[in-house]
Amino acid sequence: MKNDTPQNRKLIIEQHKRFSESCLWRMQREYFDKAGIDAWVNQVPFYITSNPYIANCYAEITIRFISDWISKHPESKNHPFYILELGTGSGRFSYYVLKKLHELRITLGMTDVSICYVMSDFTKNNIKYYESHPAFKFYIENGLVDFALFDMEVAKPITLLKSNIQLSQETLLNPLITFANYIFDTISHDAFSVRQGKLYELLLSVSCPENNLENNKPVDMEQLSTDYKVNEIKKAYYDDPDLDNILEQYKNTLTETSFLFPIGSIRAIKLLKKLANNKLFLISSDKGYSAIKNLDHLGHPSISFHGSFSMMVNFHAIANYFKNSGGDYFLQTPRKGIKTSIFVSDTKLNDLPQTKLALQKYVEGVSAADYFTLHRRVSDSFQDYNLETIAAHMNFTGWDPHIYLKLASRVTSLVEESDLDTINFLASNMHKLAENYYYMPKSDCILFEIAVFFHAIKRYSDALNYYLQAQQFVGEQFGLYYNLALCQHNLGKISEALENFKHALLIDPTSKESQEWITYIEKNSN
Ligand SMILES: C[S@@+](CC[C@H](N)C(=O)[O-])C[C@H]1O[C@@H](n2cnc3c(N)ncnc32)[C@H](O)[C@@H]1O
Repeated sequence: MKNDTPQNRKLIIEQHKRFSESCLWRMQREYFDKAGIDAWVNQVPFYITSNPYIANCYAEITIRFISDWISKHPESKNHPFYILELGTGSGRFSYYVLKKLHELRITLGMTDVSICYVMSDFTKNNIKYYESHPAFKFYIENGLVDFALFDMEVAKPITLLKSNIQLSQETLLNPLITFANYIFDTISHDAFSVRQGKLYELLLSVSCPENNLENNKPVDMEQLSTDYKVNEIKKAYYDDPDLDNILEQYKNTLTETSFLFPIGSIRAIKLLKKLANNKLFLISSDKGYSAIKNLDHLGHPSISFHGSFSMMVNFHAIANYFKNSGGDYFLQTPRKGIKTSIFVSDTKLNDLPQTKLALQKYVEGVSAADYFTLHRRVSDSFQDYNLETIAAHMNFTGWDPHIYLKLASRVTSLVEESDLDTINFLASNMHKLAENYYYMPKSDCILFEIAVFFHAIKRYSDALNYYLQAQQFVGEQFGLYYNLALCQHNLGKISEALENFKHALLIDPTSKESQEWITYIEKNSN
């Protein structure tokens, strides 16, 4: 048969499974475990939740929440506030949040409040990366950061790896502040349909081309296909009134639709609430739905693959879960892009005035989603911008290296024709870009680009300093040694310059410029 090839032959790898029990979730975990930090090297999208702007929003909201809490419960100052980041990923967001929280504590005179930031993930590979990352050295040494292996789908104790403290009802005497970015979309969901006042579960079947199997396991998740069977639900689905009441509400309110229920996330929330004596303050940014009207008239859930895969998060269900048990929530007015949502248990946001103000500003105001929309527009058109606009945008980004790396060549090309005020403004903020450097494999080095900027404006000593700092990250690169040599020559460091021109020539023996410089220096020094 012509079409009967291994690519065309599909094998069913599971049939009619409850969505949250599908093999997809195991494959998702295997993917992250195997990839480790490489998951974020051009595979899993992460800029939107890992930039200084969103980190700044989280730090501002968190510090206001801690202030509010201390005002209402002065004795809470005697105990640490733990901030637990779930599914931490690359650690870049954590670094920016830590940095901002540290600055805010100093500025607001809150250094006597003990805050411990816990970076958690289910895979040891990620934890090992954070533990040895130079960005966290200062925070580790000062007891401001700790690490934990925490699989949100497994109800096990959470032990901090540095201090050996177990997060529990005895140690969590203050609310547990929790950050969950791009993680609720990653862990298990159930899927349902509502048709004419009846509720159905969607049972999943997964199939895979035969040639995508190795040892009976799919290799590339993107080649999987999914199919659903509907099955009417006639009794309580979860045997848990908190959850079944939400499904009942959907059955009675939605007209005709399919929707997801973030069961893995809700179970993890339940566990954390229990550990924290029912005092949880949760901030989450993810793709998802926050209004019930947006849950209606949807087709069967689609799975988007990008190295890993992700699903739309039903924030509306999470909000109801908190509200039904005496808590509160703040969902930003729906707009395009990710949604930032805040949930609190056992208290009302109206009792937290500073927090409410921060939510107005950083969630309802210019949110992480708005920031990202603007960033995308700028990325598409910065070739038309003058240096003033670029400088203003860099300031808006909070001096984000990721953005500067995109704009760097435009900046150096504009330096000659731009005014001194703008150049000085950029120059005086370059140290902030350098401080925001979070090393990741196979990514460009901001220190090198800062050096190029100072080189272009003829501040050779600054340029030299940044080239030297970049050396450990960029390694044996012709441009680095050649530029180092040029700066050293301009600073009268002739013998060092000669050495580096020779080094550059070793890396690129065809470089005529290096040869000419060597000849010139040797001739003039004799
Ligand atoms: C899509 S990434 C998001 C990373 C990061 N929060 C961000 O915004 O870029 C999902 C992260 O969750 C972790 N993860 C996956 N399943 C998990 C689970 N069951 N429990 C805890 N972490 C999990 C992965 O290792 C990965 O670091």
